[in-house]
Amino acid sequence: MTYTVAVSGASGYAGGEILRLLANHPDIDIRTVTAHSNAGQPLIQHQPHLRSLAHLTLHETTPEVLAGHDIVFLALPHGQSGQYTDALGDASLVIDAGADHRLTSQDSWDAFYGGTFHEPWTYGVPELLVDGKKQRENLRGATRIAAPGCNASTVSLSLAPGVAAGVIDPSDIVTMLAVGPSGAGKSLKPHLLGGELLGTANPYAVGGTHRHIPEIQQALRQARGSAAVEPRISFTPVLVPMARGILATSTAPIVDGVSDDEVRAAWESAYGDETFVQVLPGGSFPRTADVLGANTALMGLAVDRAANRVTVVTAVDNLVKGTAGAAVQSMNLALGLPEDRALTVNGVAP
Ligand SMILES: NC(=O)c1ccc[n+]([C@@H]2O[C@H](COP(=O)([O-])OP(=O)(O)OC[C@H]3O[C@@H](n4cnc5c(N)ncnc54)[C@H](OP(=O)(O)O)[C@@H]3O)[C@@H](O)[C@H]2O)c1
Repeated sequence: MTYTVAVSGASGYAGGEILRLLANHPDIDIRTVTAHSNAGQPLIQHQPHLRSLAHLTLHETTPEVLAGHDIVFLALPHGQSGQYTDALGDASLVIDAGADHRLTSQDSWDAFYGGTFHEPWTYGVPELLVDGKKQRENLRGATRIAAPGCNASTVSLSLAPGVAAGVIDPSDIVTMLAVGPSGAGKSLKPHLLGGELLGTANPYAVGGTHRHIPEIQQALRQARGSAAVEPRISFTPVLVPMARGILATSTAPIVDGVSDDEVRAAWESAYGDETFVQVLPGGSFPRTADVLGANTALMGLAVDRAANRVTVVTAVDNLVKGTAGAAVQSMNLALGLPEDRALTVNGVAP
């Protein structure tokens, strides 16, 4: 069976990456691409790397244009998806790359985003531990999927095994992320100009204000399941001059009496059978270049006994495993297709 697809936000970074992956998917027929200010223009003018899709024209994003497809992907600025998703009753599968359907708590939505709160959808990170099982079980047959925030899923995947196994204390998490500017989208913003980014590292959203914090807290609470935990996270992102990529260094205290082997075993048992989340051998740590273009979260783990903390360093391509790859992997699960279809574990370094 071939599924017809519409992708909105197709002129942007996330929409473009969804299209790049879907263009190599044998079960997908990309019928419609939509945008906003660039509607009416050829897709290739905004995504010149998508040569096989040169025949497509960007349409205005309306519920009528998106209707009538088997699958609809939305890759719009947060707060914009809800107006379309409310009107897409007939699509068998809708996947939102934005934040509108990620959070279960309206209080968190109001505190970090504001505007209309929309119902939470099935969270699109298949490898996340959720109360003793993997999120992929919830994604099989799902009809509405919220793809993750790129920083959020990177940190959640980094720490969920330790929280789920009870070997780290989630009340004192510290995470620092080196992130590329594509994570902030393609629209023109002065702080994202080349002159502001090249040759410098720029911290932003310092001091507990980043919008991905409640998403990580939600994931880690669910990882621990019925045992009540309240994750507290000091989260500091730093923009660095690489187009794509996230290198997240996350640390948390090791629970008293837990051995080094028990710490490592928590991560290895969580991810030992996974294709797209891989834990490196002791002493090895990933580089962002190792995962560019790949749907891979690559992590290195250290037990720092001087600080009595675990340190997890995780590299992700924000546009693949952080967004479009997670969306396509979740789509495959929802449709009952092989989970890895059209996705690769191999990066493009150097
Ligand atoms: N970039 C990442 O690494 C990443 C990672 C995870 C999740 N996401 C999420 O994905 C979504 C898209 O992010 P992005 O980085 O791709 O942003 P982007 O590059 O700025 O693209 C935004 C897209 O949305 C369209 N758009 C803007 N306002 C619209 C409106 N009012 N109605 C309909 N379409 C509108 C734009 O069309 P025009 O160009 O025609 O104006 C463009 O196609 C965001 O919610 C973001 O949080 C992004």
